[in-house]
Amino acid sequence: TVGKSTNIVWHECPVGKLERQKLLNQKGCVIWITGLSGSGKSTLACALSRELHYKGYLTYVLDGDNIRHGLNHDLSFNGEDRAENIRRIGELAKLFADAGVICIASLISPFRKERDACRVMLPDSSFIEVFLDIPLEVCEARDPKGLYKLAQAGKIKGFTGIDDPYEPPMDCEIVIQQKGGQCPTPKVMAEQVISFLDKKGFLQ
Ligand code: PPS
Repeated sequence: TVGKSTNIVWHECPVGKLERQKLLNQKGCVIWITGLSGSGKSTLACALSRELHYKGYLTYVLDGDNIRHGLNHDLSFNGEDRAENIRRIGELAKLFADAGVICIASLISPFRKERDACRVMLPDSSFIEVFLDIPLEVCEARDPKGLYKLAQAGKIKGFTGIDDPYEPPMDCEIVIQQKGGQCPTPKVMAEQVISFLDKKGFLQ
């Protein structure tokens, strides 16, 4: 979208991403976790943050639910506001990555176009999309916040997967799935992501 600000000029600062990364001895990147409500996005984000933290890396979690308590408290769950939620968290994640931090964004982010727009904001393959591919029936059965029950009863309108769309990624870096009808544990999911980061040179 075209912004509303005019007559603005970008100001470059002598201390840049490279200097910050050197100081922190790590590479900034965005790990973007997408999936249905109840698929385990926040659980994975926290497990990943914990594992990386204890390995000595600086991380920060941007969780959709949490950001909606503050920065995005003005946004609803209609299509336009969800798109804006994704855009703002994408911009925020980009700033964290630019600060040299391993930023973990966990939000439903149901729209492919908006997720892809966040991807192109990040340089050098530093946007790593993780699809938590847990079937809707499993998420419904878990129903940790009782929201699916309310959506099925028509008490919440426009709930993702029930009467609102979720567009899975077509081609993302990491897909996490059940094996033999079992969901991987948070630690196993985190290890899957960490081994990808290691292989791609994000962990020195
Ligand atoms: S989105 O689609 O990316 O803008 O959503 P997000 O910011 O991740 O917020 C999702 C959490 O909000 C709660 N919630 C809903 N989810 C989906 N649809 C509707 N209508 C809705 N209303 C409230 C729900 O707790 C989601 O949390 P998670 O952690 O995904 O279960």
